Amino acid sequence: MARPAAPIRPALDPEALAEAARLLHAGGLVAFPTETVYGLGAHALDARAAARIFAAKGRPAHDPLIVHIPARDQLSEVARPLEVAGERWLERLTQRFWPGPLTVVLPRQPCVPALVSAGLDSVAVRVPAHPAAQALLRASGLPIAAPSANPFGYVSPTTAQHVRDQLGARVDLILDGGACPVGVESTIVTLLESPPRLLRPGGVPREVIEEALGLALAWTPQFRASIERPLDAPGQLESHYAPATPLRLLAGPAEAVVAPAGRVGLLAFQRSPGDGHGYVAVEVLAQDGRLETAAAHLFAALRRLDAQGLDLIVAEPVPIQGLGLAIHDRLHRASARR
Ligand code: TXA
Ligand code: MG
Repeated sequence: MARPAAPIRPALDPEALAEAARLLHAGGLVAFPTETVYGLGAHALDARAAARIFAAKGRPAHDPLIVHIPARDQLSEVARPLEVAGERWLERLTQRFWPGPLTVVLPRQPCVPALVSAGLDSVAVRVPAHPAAQALLRASGLPIAAPSANPFGYVSPTTAQHVRDQLGARVDLILDGGACPVGVESTIVTLLESPPRLLRPGGVPREVIEEALGLALAWTPQFRASIERPLDAPGQLESHYAPATPLRLLAGPAEAVVAPAGRVGLLAFQRSPGDGHGYVAVEVLAQDGRLETAAAHLFAALRRLDAQGLDLIVAEPVPIQGLGLAIHDRLHRASARR
């Protein structure tokens, strides 16, 4: 018989938190909100629990997980020190951006199972700012390994219901903290290289990190160099964050192009094109024109379009600055042929 879907419980309810902590200690899977997207959490130092994450997501073993800790103080429990310059960068980044949507890649402590890091000597670590994530980390007293709580390759979840829709029967408990305020995944920076390298644009804009470090990050944008260069980070697969419906990223505003034939939906940035535009469905990401608003709405809008049985989704480009870099990156990946 099919397993029933996991219960959804209020994330800050003390009894729900106690149950979540108990489940994590017992090797279970708990989905929880962060400021970026919902995570699929397991005890990070328990290899069998981490293995359940890969199984639940259908995630290949070569795609490493992010380890979440409640505060900078706990970092040495999962990561080893860097060289002198690396420690200076780490200090600046953690002081400025933790807790928050920044993940750093550091040398791995041996107590973190190799499986969590897909066999690498490194570990990706983040201190989430969301009160529910903080409460869970503190209630359990454990570092929590958590990828986004979606089937591998699909759009990340930004509500508890998104998690339940797809992974409901594969997790033990879903904590509901409402919609994720940032809406795109954390920015990932590796400090194992000099200068540090941007591995994934995300919730902290690249420019802000560069300003904090006083240097330009190394970066190989997937959407320019994916063909010429091998992938430079495990898990940075080009086709990712993708709805089931084919998606095409437009070169300019939708107003300037005729809707393609068929049942086509539009993911618009700031406004819907005028009447008679020919789209079956239109989602506007940010009527206020702010990239923060667009990021917060991106994944839920993609899911709504994906539920409409369309032949194609076309997406308007957003300005490639601030959070626009992460949005563009996700739309580009969603448009990559599978
Ligand atoms: O915002 C987020 O980061 C969310 C929330 C739940 O924290 N998590 C998330 O995890 O997006 P996930 O699994 O969807 O993405 C993790 C990515 C991997 O695909 C890989 O690209 C990178 O992080 N990563 C993890 N460990 C790494 C490592 N040791 N070296 C290089 N990249 C790593
Ligand atoms: Mg993911």
